[in-house]
Amino acid sequence: MSTETISKRGAISHGLATSVLERVATIASCTEKPGEILRTFLSPAMEEVHERMRPWLERMGMNVNVDAAGNLRAVYASDAGESSPVLIIGSHLDTVPNAGAYDGVLGVLLGLALVEGLGGRRLPYSIEIIGFSDEEGTRFGVPFLGSRLLTEMPSETSFLESRDSSGVTIRQALAKYRVGHPGVTPSIFNPKSAGYFEFHIEQGPLLESRNLSLGVVESIVGQSRCHVVFHGSAGHAGTSPMPLRRDALAAAALWITRCESIAAGGVGLVATVGQILVKPGAVNVIPGTALCSLDVRHADDAERTNAVEAMMKEARDIAAERGLGIETDEYHTQPAVRFDPEMISLAEKAVRDAGCGHIRMTSGAGHDAMVIASHLPTGMIFLRSPGGISHHPDESVLVDDVEVAIQAGLCFLDEFALFIEKRGNSPRE
Ligand code: GLV
Ligand code: MN
Ligand code: MN
Repeated sequence: MSTETISKRGAISHGLATSVLERVATIASCTEKPGEILRTFLSPAMEEVHERMRPWLERMGMNVNVDAAGNLRAVYASDAGESSPVLIIGSHLDTVPNAGAYDGVLGVLLGLALVEGLGGRRLPYSIEIIGFSDEEGTRFGVPFLGSRLLTEMPSETSFLESRDSSGVTIRQALAKYRVGHPGVTPSIFNPKSAGYFEFHIEQGPLLESRNLSLGVVESIVGQSRCHVVFHGSAGHAGTSPMPLRRDALAAAALWITRCESIAAGGVGLVATVGQILVKPGAVNVIPGTALCSLDVRHADDAERTNAVEAMMKEARDIAAERGLGIETDEYHTQPAVRFDPEMISLAEKAVRDAGCGHIRMTSGAGHDAMVIASHLPTGMIFLRSPGGISHHPDESVLVDDVEVAIQAGLCFLDEFALFIEKRGNSPRE
């Protein structure tokens, strides 16, 4: 790439980076809970995001729709007619509770910044920007709903029967959404899709520790999500002698520390119990039931599976020792993915062309890219997370890193034109 092109891109990307950060702040104001950022699947706050983003996308000449799975979709047409291939650039618009402003949203807005950075230039392929409706799984506990509803044909017995805290199933929520939004388009994957690209904050400390703005992701760890329920006996906190109690929460507490030890004993293994629901949940009542979540991750699927089995065995053993009932359920499994080697090289070349040092990395966080990767050649670039902070209101990015990401993204768009020319129009074969 010529030095003239690079310096021109530098000038354009500075203004775009500032605008991306202003837009992130605007989107952060769309929330279900005053005082914190919370946006869940198919919520009114998510609809507000769509309405905020629609004019930004339409101003770029993009055709904007929301699909039946609540995904925001905007197409920037190619200069080569309707039959040309499509590059999807996406990330998610939902959040965890009390979230930071950048997780997911930044990737969607960077996609838009790339279209803006083209300055009206059309490419030999179309760009579809997708703002996925759910990646975190906050409402139903099941992650990646936006990308899975786009790429999978859910069967009768699938994840659609999972319930939110009000007892509504995903199937019911989708049906209600479709009735309330008759304009939604079908939630289907464009068969001309030829690749997927995602920008995301790193959400960890590695890039900062190496003083790097960007990282090229080559793989994402696999994850299991489970429920473990200990069933004891509720009873009076004052009158029940300790040896006669069947305290479900005390058993859960012991089990959580055993899970922590198992994870700490592995290399690259992480396990988290992030939720406990205790019933009846009163200060003077012995807990009768403790429902725990469990999230286990590892880059190697066999290691993860073995760890989950060991943790479930601990739960059964603790329950047996204490005379409790136990239920265990691994309700979601996402295998580890390695991205397409050519897409990794493309991302790497784009980062280098933007004049940036980088490292190749494995992501410990889940991303929409891991669902799409089994359908399309997929590439991903991380931006440094100051302090390694994420899933926290203090999450941030540096404007200079956003700027260099835009430059790398614009290089990636040019590289992708060569990639589809080489692969032809049927990369899924
Ligand atoms: C999403 O951020 C996840 O990794 O759980
Ligand atoms: Mn997240
Ligand atoms: Mn995310």
